[in-house]
Amino acid sequence: MINFSLNGKKISYNGDGSISLLDFLRDQQGIVSVKDGCNGQAACGACMVEIDGKARLSCVMKLEKLNGVHVTTLEGIPLPVLFVLSNAFVGKGAVQCGFCTPGFLMRAKVLFTENPNPTRAEIAIALRQNLCRCTGYVKIIDAIVEALKNLRKGQDKIDENRSIDKTEFLPKYQSKQLATGHLPFVNDLRQDGLLHAALRFSDHPRAKVLKIDTHQARQFPGVIRVFTAGDIPGNPKTGLIQQDWPLMIHVNETTSYIGDVLAGVVASDRQTARQAAQLIEIEYEVLEPVSDPFKALRPESPLVHEGQPNLLEKCIVRWGNPERFFENAAYIAEGEFSTQRIEHGFLEPESALAEPMADGIKLCSQGQGVYVDRRQVATLLGISEEKVRIQQVHTGGAFGGKEDMTVQGHVSLFAWLLKQPVRLTLSREESIRMHPKRHPVWMKMKLACDSAGNLTAIKLEATGDTGAYASVGIKVMERIVGHASGAYHIPNTDLEAKTVYTNNIPSGAMRGFGVNQVTFAIESLLDELCEKGGFDRWQFRYINALTEGSVTATGQRLGKGVGVRKTLEAVKADFYAGKYAGLACGIKNTGVGNGMIDESFVKIKFEYNGKIIISHGWSEMGQGVHAMAITIFCKETGLPPENIEVSVDTGDSLVTGMTTSSRATALLGNAIIDACRLIKRDLEAQSAETLKGNVYFGKFVCDWTTKPGTHAANPVTHFAYGYATQLVLLNDEGSIRKVIAAHDVGYLLNRQLFEGQIEGAVHMGLGYALTEDLPMNDGHLVSDKLRHCKILRSDEMPEVEVRVVEVPDPVGPYGAKGIGEIGLVPTAAAVANAFYQFDKVRRYKLPLQREESVK
Ligand code: FES
Repeated sequence: MINFSLNGKKISYNGDGSISLLDFLRDQQGIVSVKDGCNGQAACGACMVEIDGKARLSCVMKLEKLNGVHVTTLEGIPLPVLFVLSNAFVGKGAVQCGFCTPGFLMRAKVLFTENPNPTRAEIAIALRQNLCRCTGYVKIIDAIVEALKNLRKGQDKIDENRSIDKTEFLPKYQSKQLATGHLPFVNDLRQDGLLHAALRFSDHPRAKVLKIDTHQARQFPGVIRVFTAGDIPGNPKTGLIQQDWPLMIHVNETTSYIGDVLAGVVASDRQTARQAAQLIEIEYEVLEPVSDPFKALRPESPLVHEGQPNLLEKCIVRWGNPERFFENAAYIAEGEFSTQRIEHGFLEPESALAEPMADGIKLCSQGQGVYVDRRQVATLLGISEEKVRIQQVHTGGAFGGKEDMTVQGHVSLFAWLLKQPVRLTLSREESIRMHPKRHPVWMKMKLACDSAGNLTAIKLEATGDTGAYASVGIKVMERIVGHASGAYHIPNTDLEAKTVYTNNIPSGAMRGFGVNQVTFAIESLLDELCEKGGFDRWQFRYINALTEGSVTATGQRLGKGVGVRKTLEAVKADFYAGKYAGLACGIKNTGVGNGMIDESFVKIKFEYNGKIIISHGWSEMGQGVHAMAITIFCKETGLPPENIEVSVDTGDSLVTGMTTSSRATALLGNAIIDACRLIKRDLEAQSAETLKGNVYFGKFVCDWTTKPGTHAANPVTHFAYGYATQLVLLNDEGSIRKVIAAHDVGYLLNRQLFEGQIEGAVHMGLGYALTEDLPMNDGHLVSDKLRHCKILRSDEMPEVEVRVVEVPDPVGPYGAKGIGEIGLVPTAAAVANAFYQFDKVRRYKLPLQREESVK
């Protein structure tokens, strides 16, 4: 018998003492404020609890070790303390996706007893066990400073200002419930009769499957059913652009990567399903994997997909006469650059819950596009889309990594065939194994300027390892071409990008979508040109910066709203004052463009109970799209935000694409403004009270972009862009002491959300520059551990200062621009350029090789 206290309640436990405290709390006590982000790797801190006054990770605490201890979760701390802590996190904008937040609250609570008046540096050290992928820790530390100050004073209130004004902010939607851990993620949902699923993955990146023996798994106590590819009633292949990704691999088919699924098990509980999945025996004929994209392009290379060349696509864009300008150039800089594969590291592993519904299926999902998931699930099940209803559950971070389906299709199939609710949640190792990553890219780039320092020509040959399936790889490589000339006007371009299949983990969408890679190359060469020609690095960028009337790499002539120069001006004084200063500018598209339609629809309903429901199709994954929607609605109508709720559910039939390419603010914002025209008209004649029962619709459609390389007279590759300049300053030892990020937001809708996005992106960009990597060896991961992804911890972050620049965009609502991705577009390049100033070593490879590089 194990006796301990939990939140003041006596627990006497005589079950399996080897289970973790985390599993006990979640599965047997129904306490979901402790989150499972890394399932026992002790890598994320989301499961943090207090044990006898110390902060502990419950995922690595065995119950058998807990005799006589006092365990406290957020549910057990005094309400005034929880109030102070959660209000500080909400008030300071420290909650983004919120998956990590309860762990931080718990750490802050324990810190108060350990050191009630810590410095910021001491707080950062105290938070070392808690990982956050969204915030860059800046606002978390702000919140803890505020919370501890209020706890010291004994205050139990903060002034929560919810009024809408350009200089104030609306707290992130549902951030209070997220902070205390009470807003459920998919893996927190509870349901009677819920079954649990697990997947059996391939042991080899490339192998012919000769036999799948499920006998032992089927006999395992607690197993309900084992599924294989033969159980799929519809089209077994899905994909965002090309349908080349099989839900499960059939006998006699060949695997394409280690994340391929061979079978699925449904059982009474998750542990049983996972154990049984390992009992499935597979016979293979193991084949040599294609793991190098350059070898993949050789004629003798095996094909990743039989009957299809390994070269998935070649994107070519040419403008002007680059050869002539290279011949006549005053200065030329060239180099070969390479960038690494990295893991998104969203804190919430993939999870989905499906249940039968009338003659269809209902799915609770945390993906980035409920309508795109709906189409794919319907295809798999062989039923019409109307029979699939998908509800968006708050997403614990995504960053592009939840665009492709992972578990949604499997769990829908299992629930559909069993006619019972089923949930499937990946372990952290499975998550890293299965979902697409950032593209590793190799780039040969050449850049020319004349004697006055005007950029004249650029040549790029890029090769991207897109892994086993197409995902959005073609689009990523198109962005590399489309952004090759960076934030500069270069009139002559010769650009080519190859997208190559291999047997590595697929590469797909990740924040920045290829632009980070190519920006590293051009900004490095820009500094080299400056050195060769004796040009001032700031001035050189300023005279070449895109302005109204400039053309981008794809030949798009820009109209109003180009803010590169303003962002350069915002960092000018610090650049010249810095001893070792690295500078880089960035441009990032808003919207998918390239001839595809960008659109958004919205439904606004005035309920009889006084609530106003804004329904749309964009996923909230921490970026604050719901707060943006409420802000614009309130700004348009003058109504207060208190009774507004937001819903994302395919039952509303507001067909929307992926939440991607920093486009939701522009598209949804304009759709809301459209809907509000009628609401405002009605409000002129009557009160909001009389609108009860009314439903208003709005839409915004951008159908005027053009496909790159079509050489249309006036191509419009994207309807809008964002612009930035980042400055990295080193100390005398060559470590990063500060990053200044000046970003053109067009119009500032919400200062805290904006700063939070950029701070988090800079954190991600610094990790990309300095530490993060996910190497593979012959199609296998070198490590599938979250800790080995080397995401920067709180005490590894330098100071980050975000500066606002507002150059209104002609399309965005009130001039606002998307900011989700551009925050890390220039970061790695700025770091590389700062390092060069310190040691005069030009670096061509990410992560940058240097020790002691972060303060
Ligand atoms: Fe910290 Fe998302 S808010 S991981």
